[in-house]
Amino acid sequence: MTATTLSTNGHDRSALIPLLQQVQTEKGYVPQEAITEISEQLRVSTSEIFGVLTFYAQFRLKPVGKHMVKICRGTACHVRGAPFIIDAVEEELGLSDGNDTTKDHEFTVEKVACFGACSLAPVMILDEETKGSITPDQARRMIRKAVKAIKAEKAKAEVSNE
Ligand code: FES
Repeated sequence: MTATTLSTNGHDRSALIPLLQQVQTEKGYVPQEAITEISEQLRVSTSEIFGVLTFYAQFRLKPVGKHMVKICRGTACHVRGAPFIIDAVEEELGLSDGNDTTKDHEFTVEKVACFGACSLAPVMILDEETKGSITPDQARRMIRKAVKAIKAEKAKAEVSNE
């Protein structure tokens, strides 16, 4: 987000949501400095902007990991064991205390209301891979496989840098 980008939108308050969406698309989240900048540009209070950011689930206030793990916690998935999937994934990634992103910023776990694929419940998506009727063990295996692939990629990069 830059002043140049913002200046094209003037002081039109209706630009608030499109601007926030633009920041989110560019950075993956809406950082504090962007909120301040937008607040000054549109003459909207930061508390009003926070209200918008917290109202719409699409906005994130913290940076996300390189890999997204989306787990449905809708009714169909919930009754078919989604809480166990969530527990397994969070444990596998070492997430606790409400943190949704790993310390190395490789993974973010997002709990989604419904993917619209309830007949496949419970459903988990890791990046581009969707898995329905997933069990906690399968969820753990998906995570381990991704972690292994990331480690292999890093090792390859280190070798090529030597
Ligand atoms: S409730 Fe999980 S996909 Fe609909």
